[in-house]
Amino acid sequence: MSVVPNVGTEKITVPRLVQRKSLATESTPGKKITCLTAYDYPTARLVDQAGVDLVLVGDSVGMVVLGYESTLPVTLEETLHHTKAVRRGVQRALVVADMPYGTYHGDRNEALKNALQLVKEAGAEAIKIEGGERRLQLIGKLVEAEIPVMGHIGLTPQSVNTLGGYRVQGKTHHAAEQLVREAKSLEAAGAFSIVLEAIPRALAAEITNSVQIPTIGIGAGPDCDGQILVLHDMIGLTFRNPPKFTRLYANIGEIFSAAVKEYCSDVQAGYFPSDAESYHASANVLERNTVSAPAELT
Ligand code: KIV
Repeated sequence: MSVVPNVGTEKITVPRLVQRKSLATESTPGKKITCLTAYDYPTARLVDQAGVDLVLVGDSVGMVVLGYESTLPVTLEETLHHTKAVRRGVQRALVVADMPYGTYHGDRNEALKNALQLVKEAGAEAIKIEGGERRLQLIGKLVEAEIPVMGHIGLTPQSVNTLGGYRVQGKTHHAAEQLVREAKSLEAAGAFSIVLEAIPRALAAEITNSVQIPTIGIGAGPDCDGQILVLHDMIGLTFRNPPKFTRLYANIGEIFSAAVKEYCSDVQAGYFPSDAESYHASANVLERNTVSAPAELT
């Protein structure tokens, strides 16, 4: 059963999100952290007004909005463009920008420059990077530059070629131990939160209990400190089979198609626009020989 969220008005900041977990006790557990992706002004504004805590300008933009086969082609320029639009639409939620593939994999100074651009130019309040132990030094550098960093482990879509596909991770004893280690080291390096993607529920629960910073699950079961979904998956606005962990909360794709079909049929039948949807001028303005100022739009 769903309950209407209690939408607060206070601005969500990194320390406030972290406090949800650190101040929680067994008798008063912290409120779950709600996160969704958004990539443009209207969706960001709607998601923010509905009370989501964190809006991620995910590199999933490549697949769900830009029509790429994977997230790999997404560029820094595209992320800057979408983050700026989201920033304009969000007032309360924390805005996090995903660093695209190739923008943080080489030289660390270059990675810092790219992350700074997302913050300074586009208005991101934090950035997310994929990967565990390989990213520790970079995370230290970003945090030193006052950039809050969200980690992301488990199924990291930018590693699709090395993983050999989009598969559930952490299913062997060794892989599970490795993920617990990575989560702890991300926390030690200064990450303020960690996305856990497509890992078994029990492992996500173990990781959540092993770190002080909030875990945000996607396909990682209900025991994480928060949840995230790709917005377009949960509102039926994609053309792919949604992953098992997605729940369809509304089928906007169907509503959209029905509206467009009705519009086309109304135009063809002459039902749109109606007289009431047309502008009118007073009769004397329409007299040929009268020279008058342009009529006001009414
Ligand atoms: O790009 C994205 O949307 C993400 C989330 C699925 C966590 O990384």
